[in-house]
Amino acid sequence: MKPKILIARAIFPEVVERLSCHFAVETNQDDLPWSSAELAQRLHDKQGLFSSANERITAELIAACPQLKMIANMAVGFNNIDLDAATRAGVMVSNTPDVLNETTADFAWALLMAAARQVGASERWLRAGQWKRWRYDAFLGADLHGATLGILGMGRIGQAIARRSRGFDMQVLYHNRTQLPATLEAAANHAQFVDKDDLLRRADHLLLVLPYSAATHHAIGAAELALMKPTATLVNIARGGIVDDAALIAALRERRIAAAGLDVFENEPAFHPDFLALDNVVLTPHIGSASGATRRAMATCAADNLIAAFSGKTPPNLLNP
Ligand code: DGY
Repeated sequence: MKPKILIARAIFPEVVERLSCHFAVETNQDDLPWSSAELAQRLHDKQGLFSSANERITAELIAACPQLKMIANMAVGFNNIDLDAATRAGVMVSNTPDVLNETTADFAWALLMAAARQVGASERWLRAGQWKRWRYDAFLGADLHGATLGILGMGRIGQAIARRSRGFDMQVLYHNRTQLPATLEAAANHAQFVDKDDLLRRADHLLLVLPYSAATHHAIGAAELALMKPTATLVNIARGGIVDDAALIAALRERRIAAAGLDVFENEPAFHPDFLALDNVVLTPHIGSASGATRRAMATCAADNLIAAFSGKTPPNLLNP
């Protein structure tokens, strides 16, 4: 008998088809987000779960699903899963690293450029029919070329972002839990390791690329924003909980920083409504990895991990060996 799996969100039909060759599959092709109670009820008799970063996989859910052997999360981030609880329960967990590095780095640049050069605000203004004449002072933004790029969290995505800064003749500063080896710093456009406060003070444009955990919760709050330049741009493509929204809204409203680009929010798909009243923030719905090729690669990677786990092999991206 095939093991039973639950696919928690709609995914590419060809990936569902492939998984159906190996598993008895229950899908959510309507793609309506399930409540925790509904997820628990559907997962109760399953051995495997194919999840997205939006499902909250808590210790309670894991305890309520005694047959569960494997969770394949279709995301590089796995802060939505209680990894310790899964490990204690003997449940394997995998993520989808690497396949999204370059696409997410591309998007970080898109968001940075849009925020620094007021692409969103100027487009809304044009669409609203307000473009009556050229003005020397309309939508003045900050330059990227020649500026100092700050990166908080210098994993593989941070390094891919840094590499792209060569074309803009930027200086790269970064802060990370540990300093990178010299060869990786050189490849990352000669990125220079600095402490966090130094990074905040010196960056013209600051990109947040660090994983979310209790240790990084609200890593950017009022005190950190106060250190930044009034001309600085802040971009978050990591996880919403890294930024204290109330502090960021105040800093943007009072122009204590110039602009922000946010692709992630603390309680997605909800976000703080006060962002909508601000013209100096660009808001996107968690699409950093959303190119067709990369989302397919992520789904394939998650499927590979599930198939490996139930074929007696070690899943290639196992997080709790
Ligand atoms: C990831 O892979 O962690 C991205 O944020 C998409 O969820």
